[in-house]
Amino acid sequence: MTRIRSVVRGTGSYLPEKVLTNDDLAHMVETSDEWITQRTGIKERHIIADGENTSDMAVAAAREALERAGKTIEDIDLILVATTTPDYTFPATASIVQNKLGSSHGMAFDIQAVCTGFVFAVATADNYLTSGMAKCALVIGSDCMSRILDWQDRSTCVLFADGAGAIVLEAVESPGEPDDRGVLASTLRTDGRHWHKLYVDGGVSRSGTAGFIHMEGREVFKHAVTMISDVVVDVLKKSGMHIDDLDWVVPHQANKRIIDGVEKKLGIPAGKVVVTVDRHANTSAASVPLALHEAVKDGRIKQGDYVMIEAMGGGFTWGASLIRW
Ligand code: ACO
Repeated sequence: MTRIRSVVRGTGSYLPEKVLTNDDLAHMVETSDEWITQRTGIKERHIIADGENTSDMAVAAAREALERAGKTIEDIDLILVATTTPDYTFPATASIVQNKLGSSHGMAFDIQAVCTGFVFAVATADNYLTSGMAKCALVIGSDCMSRILDWQDRSTCVLFADGAGAIVLEAVESPGEPDDRGVLASTLRTDGRHWHKLYVDGGVSRSGTAGFIHMEGREVFKHAVTMISDVVVDVLKKSGMHIDDLDWVVPHQANKRIIDGVEKKLGIPAGKVVVTVDRHANTSAASVPLALHEAVKDGRIKQGDYVMIEAMGGGFTWGASLIRW
């Protein structure tokens, strides 16, 4: 039976010009390249410029994704921006992005699921496209985590950074087979009992401030590998596929040890995991689309490949999506 699938048409990304290395950080707080590299795999990260905002990075990534998709903004009737660091309390950053891209039709809204935001946005766009509510979606992850970091807190300021990534998804009538191109299955999860283990201590209704990131690092680490592995297995089950069928796994880039832990637990064949955390650090909702775009651009991810995206973050939220490229 034929069905609509959400097919990837193009990808794009943006990284701010300024690069901050571990050695730079060692001049700011009591830390070292050795400590950061050993614990996280991070070597350097990009930091947004003064006067640059989340929407600017999102627009740059979106423009590249549109161009590579062979689409114009006129083709887009759904814009989703996954972000934890919006330009304004309201309107949604997606409204600002829509306006900067020169569109005033269709719908645009933000998704807030912290580091899992992009996976939540892909699954949300897939539902809008497959239900017929939209025809062509721009799905963006954009975050400037540097603006909610306490730069005196060495336990968090070495982990996070800034950037944006985007993909264009189009509704396509398909045969309805497991080898269709497009988003094949997704699983999203939230467990609010863990909210205080990774949170920002500000907010409109509590303090009227933006606040800073606080994290129980060991608790996050403890849950991350299990939670991510569970949703990947669930998505494989829904699609009738096996871990060996995957061509690529594109994980959220929080920490190389979490990425390695998932790889080991699931028995993902070596060399099939896309890693950018060494150069990007944790860019929250931007990390998965940044990694996706890098692997598409350098020719690793090709049309027809089975690509699993996965993430876990504040909330806790976690999720995975299987996409046939
Ligand atoms: N440089 C040097 N020393 C540091 C630093 C630093 N940047 N940060 C903390 N330390 C010190 C601590 O003060 C502590 O010192 P003490 O023993 O004298 O008290 C020591 O290092 C150990 O601290 P821990 O927090 O126990 O270190 P741990 O080995 O757990 O590593 C880390 C911390 C890297 C954060 C780890 O817990 C982790 O990877 N957690 C996952 C968190 C993560 O990736 N979060 C991202 C957001 S969530 C997500 O996206 C999935």
